Amino acid sequence: MRRGLTIFLLINLLIIIFLIRSVFTLLTLLIEDGSADAIHPAEIPAPNSPLIDDRKQLIPKIIHQTYANDTVPERWREAQKSCIDMHEDYEYKLWTDASSRELIATEYPWFLGTFDNYSQPIQRADAIRYFVLNRFGGIYIDLDAGCNRRLDPLLSYPAWVRRTDPTGISNDAMGSIANHPFFTLVIESLIPYDRNWKLPYITVMYSTGPLFLSVIWQEYKRGRGSEVTSFLGTPGSSGRWDGTEDHRVRVLMGDEYNKQPWAFFRWYGGSSWHGSDAQLIFWMGKHWMLLTASGFLVAGVVGLCIWWIYGRVLLLGQRRRKGGKCADSNSNSWGASGTAWAQRIPLWRRGSSNGYELIERHEV
Ligand SMILES: *[C@@H]1O[C@H](CO)[C@@H](O)[C@H](O)[C@H]1NC(C)=O
Repeated sequence: MRRGLTIFLLINLLIIIFLIRSVFTLLTLLIEDGSADAIHPAEIPAPNSPLIDDRKQLIPKIIHQTYANDTVPERWREAQKSCIDMHEDYEYKLWTDASSRELIATEYPWFLGTFDNYSQPIQRADAIRYFVLNRFGGIYIDLDAGCNRRLDPLLSYPAWVRRTDPTGISNDAMGSIANHPFFTLVIESLIPYDRNWKLPYITVMYSTGPLFLSVIWQEYKRGRGSEVTSFLGTPGSSGRWDGTEDHRVRVLMGDEYNKQPWAFFRWYGGSSWHGSDAQLIFWMGKHWMLLTASGFLVAGVVGLCIWWIYGRVLLLGQRRRKGGKCADSNSNSWGASGTAWAQRIPLWRRGSSNGYELIERHEV
């Protein structure tokens, strides 16, 4: 009985360790607030401040956006125009389905198969933004985000992403120099993360979307780039943070993103792709604390049930063993049936007939 309990607890422990290991990065996201790499408001000169021109500018002056074709829908034109008008000295690139595929086919042919096979168009729209940042550098902005002020101060960081609620980072506005190791790791992680999770929302989020980017961001900061990059035969290559400022990924916090008058962006509304399962996920995002607690509760109840069933099986075994003993004392052949029983459940096999008898004496 005691040995059974030990093995039972060990197996449970192993299962729990395995589960925690497999979702470890997701768990670390829950406590990650990005503050260690946050772009502090004091670093950012006020709009039109002469200080802006004194800062070194690393990121090239390119604004990237994506849409299916060149005809941007009416509802996003205002947002799009706000960014273009404010940045006349910036190059503007609108990546369409056709030009996106063209870039992948010519510059990243190893990715074309995955790119073409994505089941959701938004996955291609997600993926292409990482590739253009990796290839050209610049600032990517979602079409529904408009500019609230010039983005020049954000050119001073080798790479930046933006913090999002409830956790992690988003991929709707990001900036980077070309060939930054973070975005190199991101594009090299797309194939390993290309999995179907049944719910389209989860699949998009975790294969190419913000959750994917957040997880890679965590891995990058932990300096574990080599594990994911190795599939290209270049272990520990560019997708690794060497700890220097050049490799650091800074984080634009909510206030500086769009919450304050001096923020860089303005929200023009409308997520373009959220399906019917999105409402549920948003709800889950808001109530993750409750859900985590319920998860542990359910796990506990399931554990108890398994333990109870396990106990019943043991009891049954003991009854059968007793029954066997009665029959044996009558027929005088208990050794044979005892051996048969022992073979059926090896855990309870006694090393010697002495051990077996000892238990019987206790039980009677
Ligand atoms: C551009 O793409 C949108 C969305 O897929 C579509 O509704 C529209 O007809 C396309 N416009 C042109 C000119 O092809």
